[in-house]
Amino acid sequence: MRKNEFIANSNGYKIIAVDDEEGIVDSLSIFLKRSGYEFTGVTNPLEAIEKVRNEHFDLMILDFIMDPIHGDKVVEEIRKFNKDLYILLLTGHKDLAPPLETIRKLDIQGYCEKSDKFDQLLLLIESGIKSIAQMNEIKRINIELSETYEKLEKAYLDSIQTLRYTVEAKDPYTRGHSDRVAEYSVLIGKKLNLPDSDIKTLQIGGLFHDIGKIGIPDSILLKEAKLTDNEYSQIKNHPSIGAHILCNAEVFRDIIPIVKHHHERYDGRGYPRTIKR
Ligand SMILES: [Fe+2]
Repeated sequence: MRKNEFIANSNGYKIIAVDDEEGIVDSLSIFLKRSGYEFTGVTNPLEAIEKVRNEHFDLMILDFIMDPIHGDKVVEEIRKFNKDLYILLLTGHKDLAPPLETIRKLDIQGYCEKSDKFDQLLLLIESGIKSIAQMNEIKRINIELSETYEKLEKAYLDSIQTLRYTVEAKDPYTRGHSDRVAEYSVLIGKKLNLPDSDIKTLQIGGLFHDIGKIGIPDSILLKEAKLTDNEYSQIKNHPSIGAHILCNAEVFRDIIPIVKHHHERYDGRGYPRTIKR
């Protein structure tokens, strides 16, 4: 019978086995290929570390007592650059297994004793593959969610941008002003060594800080003559109007205080008033 007749269609999961006994690696190769896994066998533990560094594997079956380094050292090295690999430890005898504390610390998912039959190992592998499939699904959903969130954020940003351009189109003073405020805010934020997330908040807050001017009548916003007291108090509503425009979008929760209080002063004498005089 030709060797290939044993090989079932691949289920897409890649397993690497590391054992310095070539016979074990050969037996695992036949057994696991027949079960549909893509199999790589390695007899040198140092070579195994390099293979995992350079190729993707879903699961590793690892002998414990090996030369020149034992299985726990192999895992220790691999965990420095790969936290995801599902690792099953094979032990010659359970008394020779590393302590449970070491197994937990190295994030080894299971171990079993070597045996002529691979039934127990196969069950562990199947259980591992189920966990891997679930983790892959969770990762895929997380990526989708984060892409959807980014699209929503961008769509909302675009619509607010349109409102901003509307304000700027009718108010020559505001034109370019918001871009400059955003630019200076970012420069000041960087000088203060603020984290990137705060710098982004400052930038968006700067761009949209005057968005509330959309709610001020043109007769007041564009008036060249001196404003009456009543007209000036209407102008002073634009920070609150801007905060109201943004208040329904969770993504802009952090910039609402910037918009609402951008005419406040250190001494509290700006508007809208935050302290009683
Ligand atoms: Fe303003």
